[in-house]
Amino acid sequence: MDVFTLKQLVAKAALEYVKPGTILGVGTGSTVDCFIDALAEANMALKGAVSSSVRSEKKLRDIGVPIVELADITGLDIYVDGADEIDPAFHLIKGGGGALTREKIVADSACTFVCIADESKLVQTLGHFPLPVEVIPMARAVIARKLQALGGTPVWRKGFVTDNGNDILDVSGLHISDPCALESEINQWPGVVTNGLFARRGADVCLIGSGQEVKKLLLAPTTTICHNGVANS
Ligand code: 5RP
Repeated sequence: MDVFTLKQLVAKAALEYVKPGTILGVGTGSTVDCFIDALAEANMALKGAVSSSVRSEKKLRDIGVPIVELADITGLDIYVDGADEIDPAFHLIKGGGGALTREKIVADSACTFVCIADESKLVQTLGHFPLPVEVIPMARAVIARKLQALGGTPVWRKGFVTDNGNDILDVSGLHISDPCALESEINQWPGVVTNGLFARRGADVCLIGSGQEVKKLLLAPTTTICHNGVANS
């Protein structure tokens, strides 16, 4: 099965977590695009959605889902989003699409973060995918030097401006042995808006397209269950 078909498969599987009449948190990316298509196909009557990007907001509006401001609600039950890398503890690298800050805000407001991805995103250790760091433009060079001092190679994502009006540095070569510690360290530098490590608030459930099927990975107890309910490891 090709990667796009796997994305469609996991997108459909995530509908299991969506209750009609509720407000849903929606992430950003090509897998989430498939999820929004699946919502439309299933004729899911949502009360609304909190979107993590202008891109997803437009797509949600196009299918008739009302956009809700996070400031107008007290929290969300479910947040559905993709990832660039997923480690065995469900720590993530996100932000390939540049929506990391709003994604982190919405994820942090949700009780359950359902991560949807194809199996190419599963890794033992995070860091092969360059870590996106959203920075206030004025601080870009300062932060780039600090990232170099950590052993990383930051590259300015030229020509890209985030939905918040900021720049992105994509950092390769980082040795991410402690994702929570690194997330906190980078986030406390003045000028950093946030970084793409989702370790302090990682995913709760991962729906992974693998081979011909969707595997539901749960953190505790550590089990791998086929989406059709058949345990396979
Ligand atoms: C956007 C993200 C995406 O979730 C991540 O880049 C995965 O994208 P895709 O579903 O296109 O592979 O973090 O900021």
